[in-house]
Amino acid sequence: MMSPTRLAGILIPAMAFLSCLRPESWDPCVQVVPNITYQCTELNLSKIPNNIPTSTKELDLSFNPLRHLGSHCFSNFPELQVLDLSRCEIQIIEDDAYQGLNHLSILILTGNPIQRLFPRAFSGLSSLKTLVAKETKLTSLEDFPIGHLKTLKELNVAHNLIHSFKLPAYFSNMPNLENVDLSNNKIQNIYRQDLQVLHKMPLLNLSLDLSLNPLYFIQPGSFKEIKLHELTLRSNFNSTDVMKTFIQGLAGLKINQLVLGEFKNERKLESFDNSLLEGLCNLTIEKFRIAYFDSFSEDTTNLFNHLVNISAISLAHLYLDTPKYLPKNLRWQRLEIVHCNLEQFPAWELDSLKEFVLTSNKGINTFAEMKMESLEFLDLSRNGLSFKTCCSHSDFGTTRLKHLDLSFNEIITMSSNFLGLEQLEYLDLQHSSLKQTSDFSVFLSLRNLRYLDISYTRTEVVFHGIFDGLVSLQVLKMADNSFPDNFLPNIFKGLTNLTILDLSGCHLERVSQVAFVSLPKLQLINMSHNSLLSLDTLAYEPLLSLRTLDCSFNRIVAFKEQGQQHFPSNLVSLNLTKNKFACDCEHQSFLQWVKDHRQLLVEVEKMVCAKPLDMQDMPLLSFRNATCQRSKTIISVSVFTVLMVSLVAVLAYKFYFHLMLLAGCKRYNRGESTYDAFVIYSSQDEDWVRNELVKNLEEGVPPFQLCLHYRDFIPGVAIAANIIQEGFYKSRKVIVVVSQHFIQSRWCIFEYEIAQTWQFLSSRAGIIFIVLQKVEKSLLRQQVELYRLLSRNTYLEWEDSVLGRHIFWRRLRKALLDGKPWSPEGTEDAENS
Ligand SMILES: *[C@@H]1O[C@H](CO)[C@@H](O)[C@H](O)[C@H]1NC(C)=O
Ligand SMILES: *[C@@H]1O[C@H](CO)[C@@H](O)[C@H](O)[C@H]1NC(C)=O
Ligand SMILES: *[C@@H]1O[C@H](CO)[C@@H](O)[C@H](O)[C@H]1NC(C)=O
Ligand SMILES: *[C@@H]1O[C@H](CO)[C@@H](O)[C@H](O)[C@H]1NC(C)=O
Ligand SMILES: *[C@@H]1O[C@H](CO)[C@@H](O)[C@H](O)[C@H]1NC(C)=O
Ligand SMILES: *[C@@H]1O[C@H](CO)[C@@H](O)[C@H](O)[C@H]1NC(C)=O
Ligand SMILES: *[C@@H]1O[C@H](CO)[C@@H](O)[C@H](O)[C@H]1NC(C)=O
Ligand SMILES: *[C@@H]1O[C@H](CO)[C@@H](O)[C@H](O)[C@H]1NC(C)=O
Ligand SMILES: *[C@@H]1O[C@H](CO)[C@@H](O)[C@H](O)[C@H]1NC(C)=O
Ligand SMILES: *[C@@H]1O[C@H](CO)[C@@H](O)[C@H](O)[C@H]1NC(C)=O
Repeated sequence: MMSPTRLAGILIPAMAFLSCLRPESWDPCVQVVPNITYQCTELNLSKIPNNIPTSTKELDLSFNPLRHLGSHCFSNFPELQVLDLSRCEIQIIEDDAYQGLNHLSILILTGNPIQRLFPRAFSGLSSLKTLVAKETKLTSLEDFPIGHLKTLKELNVAHNLIHSFKLPAYFSNMPNLENVDLSNNKIQNIYRQDLQVLHKMPLLNLSLDLSLNPLYFIQPGSFKEIKLHELTLRSNFNSTDVMKTFIQGLAGLKINQLVLGEFKNERKLESFDNSLLEGLCNLTIEKFRIAYFDSFSEDTTNLFNHLVNISAISLAHLYLDTPKYLPKNLRWQRLEIVHCNLEQFPAWELDSLKEFVLTSNKGINTFAEMKMESLEFLDLSRNGLSFKTCCSHSDFGTTRLKHLDLSFNEIITMSSNFLGLEQLEYLDLQHSSLKQTSDFSVFLSLRNLRYLDISYTRTEVVFHGIFDGLVSLQVLKMADNSFPDNFLPNIFKGLTNLTILDLSGCHLERVSQVAFVSLPKLQLINMSHNSLLSLDTLAYEPLLSLRTLDCSFNRIVAFKEQGQQHFPSNLVSLNLTKNKFACDCEHQSFLQWVKDHRQLLVEVEKMVCAKPLDMQDMPLLSFRNATCQRSKTIISVSVFTVLMVSLVAVLAYKFYFHLMLLAGCKRYNRGESTYDAFVIYSSQDEDWVRNELVKNLEEGVPPFQLCLHYRDFIPGVAIAANIIQEGFYKSRKVIVVVSQHFIQSRWCIFEYEIAQTWQFLSSRAGIIFIVLQKVEKSLLRQQVELYRLLSRNTYLEWEDSVLGRHIFWRRLRKALLDGKPWSPEGTEDAENS
């Protein structure tokens, strides 16, 4: 034993060492990624903490009262890439405050009431890409000392006090500048010279956001020959007139995307006049987007007239009437109508359109035919649509359709077999109620289809040929449908290119062993959330490419059959969590398999037992198969013992008398015999025994002492005991009087059998047979043993004639004399007779 002092001497330094390692050593900051990311937000820090590793790359110091940034105050963090100083009450930033941060990419200064910005406040920062200076009381971009930040890509100065739209000259130093957010400032007027820098630097690919500025005046021609990537003007105008003249003032602008509209909570315009957009015809626009305008005038057709030359239109959150007809010369290629309250399905004729997205519109509820010759991409999801004749080329007026999304609608009746839509590659029908899907091979003609989703469509797969013809299919999702008898048959014949199959939530209880035989490229099967009762590896064996199998959330107890289990050799992930495993000895081969295949199983430590009760919710891995060995041994030992005991009991019962003989042998073997012979005979022959045998032997010379049960057995003792103790033990020889009666008496035969055992045990040649009368051969044969003895040994035959008697008695006496202790008297007598 160690002494307490020595123990303490070891433990205390160890504990001190451990406490140094605790993460709290950079208290109070939160270590998100060790040595890389630290979060020190809202900690009432007034200084930059100095106990954070110098290797830190991301540092969040927001909501601390730092107030003043002195020079070189971040020199401890040369690796810093992201620095968040939001709402740190910073009023003063001195020269060289960020000096040394040569890797800093993102600097966030949102919400600091900056009063003094030294001229070289942002010096260094040679890699800065994003500068966010929202709500910093900035009044002018030109005074903002960032002219040297050549790498800048994004400048966010929203929500400041900037009055002038003049883009500073230093933008020409920033070849990568893409996004300038000037929203929510005080800009009212736009003059031609404000955009001068863009004339100098025409390659600049700039996106400008001017939303929420109270725009009022624009000098005509300000944007002439200007190229922008994007211009956003939302909630800028307090009247339609201002907006109209402003849009006219944009004439000459070449722009990739123009965004107009308002915000959900920021509405200014009272009514929307179609003439508003007239000015757009003097612009070159690729994409046009308009959002959150409530009050469009009745005739929407006129609105679209101003948009004919635009290739992509997006209309979102508008109260829009569906125009019956569209302008003839539309050049639209993509049209998106999202969250608009259309009242009718837009059954339009639109030859140019390639992509049409019409989603989340509440007003329309039945599909109507449209005619869009060039259409390749159609998304009609989330409209609450009913569709009675889905689907053929006549519904859409095109045979070029490749992508069709009808998900999240109402009832879709599959009645047209996709006639003329053979180009379809992607078909999504999830969460719509499908009718007649399983009546015939509805997908038969879709030989180019790669992706099919019929999840949550309330389909009962009755028809086994449902997926016939889908030779190119790679992804099939059919979660939450059902099968007759909850049995998965082989419905995947011919899907040789299938790589992903989702069958989750289909109430499956059993899987046909040939369900997946024809899927050589399948890599993922999702069988989760079914009701599988066992894991049948045989079904998955043909899947040579299978990598992921998800059987979680089932009722799996163990493997279907005991024995060698083989999964495809490419399997790398098997999810068996949330099942009903039985952790008992009956399934120990499965439990052992789990232990041996840990690396294959997902979250193996979270796999828990459901049975038996004492193992409930215990990890599967905690099952010990040693308990099985022990109980097996116990069972076999006890079975063996019971068998042995019963065997012994049966034997003891059967050979009770023989055993008694055996026990007696030891005791009596040595002692002198009282009798010369014990006579076994049938009581029917008692006369002969009394009159002949007893007379001749006991009264003759020498006299023999016979044991006769009528005379010598001790009264009150069981006959069997008498036979053994009085008869056999005390007699030298046994005389068996064989007669017809003897053979017929079971008792006599029993006595005889004991006699045989006695002869064997006492190893004396002691049985003398006397055949009293000729016994019928057939009768004798029943006593096989006796018959054999009699035919093999000599025996004495009683003959009732003078000569015969003489010979008989002489032979019998001789036999009895054999082994009799010698006495001179006896010998003499014998000689005389
Ligand atoms: C963190 O950095 C320190 C010193 O550079 C180093 O000893 C430690 O191993 C690092 N920890 C991790 C998790 O990288
Ligand atoms: C923040 O720290 C200052 C001193 O640095 C202290 O006076 C103030 O009470 C602290 N505020 C809170 C909310 O802990
Ligand atoms: C222009 O900027 C936008 C992002 O604002 C970007 O998506 C686009 O690729 C850029 N175009 C060119 C030609 O650099
Ligand atoms: C619109 O804004 C301008 C300038 O901010 C202001 O002079 C004018 O009165 C406003 N008009 C309306 C109708 O609010
Ligand atoms: C388009 O610009 C021309 C001249 O630049 C002008 O005459 C015409 O009125 C403008 N059109 C509209 C609808 O503003
Ligand atoms: C569309 O472009 C064509 C030719 O490029 C031109 O003639 C037509 O006026 C334009 N329409 C509008 C509304 O801008
Ligand atoms: C299966 O995919 C391969 C390549 O991914 C393609 O060459 C083959 O044509 C496809 N089979 C069918 C029947 O589409
Ligand atoms: C299987 O489907 C379930 C439920 O839809 C999902 O949670 C799980 O992530 C899927 N498993 C795989 C491996 O994709
Ligand atoms: C089963 O495990 C896989 C792999 O980690 C995972 O993607 C999937 O989501 C899991 N399944 C469920 C139902 O969580
Ligand atoms: C019991 O577990 C040991 C190792 O833990 C293993 O070698 C032995 O094969 C297992 N026995 C059975 C019957 O699974």
